[in-house]
Amino acid sequence: MPDIIKIENLVKRFGSLTAVNDINLNIKEGEIFGLLGPNGAGKSTTLNILLGLLAPTSGKVMVNGVDMHKDPHAAREEIGIVTQETVVEAELTAEQNLMIFGRLYHIPPEELQKDIDFALDLAALTNFRNAYAGTFSGGMKRRLEVSKALMHAPKLILLDEPTTGLDVQNRTQIWNLLREINKKQNVTILMTTQYLEEADQLCNRIGIIDHGKLIALGTPSELRQKIGMSNIIEVSANKDNLQKVAAAFKSIGLNPTTLSNKVTAAGGSSATKKIELLIKEISSKKIEIQNISMHEPTIDDVFLKLTGSQVRDESGAFTGGRGSMMGRGR
Ligand SMILES: Nc1ncnc2c1ncn2[C@@H]1O[C@H](COP(=O)(O)OP(=O)(O)O)[C@@H](O)[C@H]1O
Ligand SMILES: [Mg+2]
Repeated sequence: MPDIIKIENLVKRFGSLTAVNDINLNIKEGEIFGLLGPNGAGKSTTLNILLGLLAPTSGKVMVNGVDMHKDPHAAREEIGIVTQETVVEAELTAEQNLMIFGRLYHIPPEELQKDIDFALDLAALTNFRNAYAGTFSGGMKRRLEVSKALMHAPKLILLDEPTTGLDVQNRTQIWNLLREINKKQNVTILMTTQYLEEADQLCNRIGIIDHGKLIALGTPSELRQKIGMSNIIEVSANKDNLQKVAAAFKSIGLNPTTLSNKVTAAGGSSATKKIELLIKEISSKKIEIQNISMHEPTIDDVFLKLTGSQVRDESGAFTGGRGSMMGRGR
């Protein structure tokens, strides 16, 4: 499959801040690609450059064979766009929203009704076609937006955090919608996300971005292998006891990483046995701990492995907890 997006040595600076730091990335036709990263990582900046809305400081992006910086209008014809902020017209009905957009994209009048019906069906909003978009839930608005971006049958759709803030049910509906148009119409999908789970379940390939740098790239299973971790054993304890906990890890052959409030290590296939040994060791040494647990690698573990630090929140402070969403919502 040919590359529908080519990003070469892309750099974007805002004053002294480097938002995108030398990214190289190719996306093939037919892929569902996820750009995964915490808040402030540089996801929207990258996407906006791909859309020709922002000029790169240096480097080059080609979308569908067109240099986005030189000829954004030509390339945008082939692209569906879903921005980070929802932009449906509240005082128009679902159908009217789609109609206006269809005219904007010069869909021939004789095809418009068919395309609107298709989009409403895709968004599971057929029964709401005459309802005002302003009365819709966040998830319904988002679905309307995604299907709107698909109405003019683009080859490629770029979505900036399409599911952030949505509940599980709406998120799943958007995933299904994206899977369907990818499979049935071979639409290439480039989306950004803060959710590891989303990238994992939906995307064929994932790029992890942090501080404007692409720090990992591969299929979900390749990334897991690259990280080489399974069954993370975690013991949280008072700061004063962390050193003793780490020593206990070492004494049973684990390779611990000590953070501000916990010690972790990959347990691998013998993790259950290791936990038993660890509990024995900790109790025999009378080390006071708060909690002991085991989990599959989360984005924090991936991050820890790749960057040596935990996922940051927006302020740049390290976050203590863990979860599948990067840097927020803990
Ligand atoms: N127009 C701008 N002017 C100055 N700084 C910006 C601008 N847009 C984004 N940034 C900064 O660039 C970094 C990356 O932002 P962004 O691409 O929005 O990240 P993400 O979408 O991954 O949350 C952040 O530190 C952000 O504050
Ligand atoms: Mg963003």
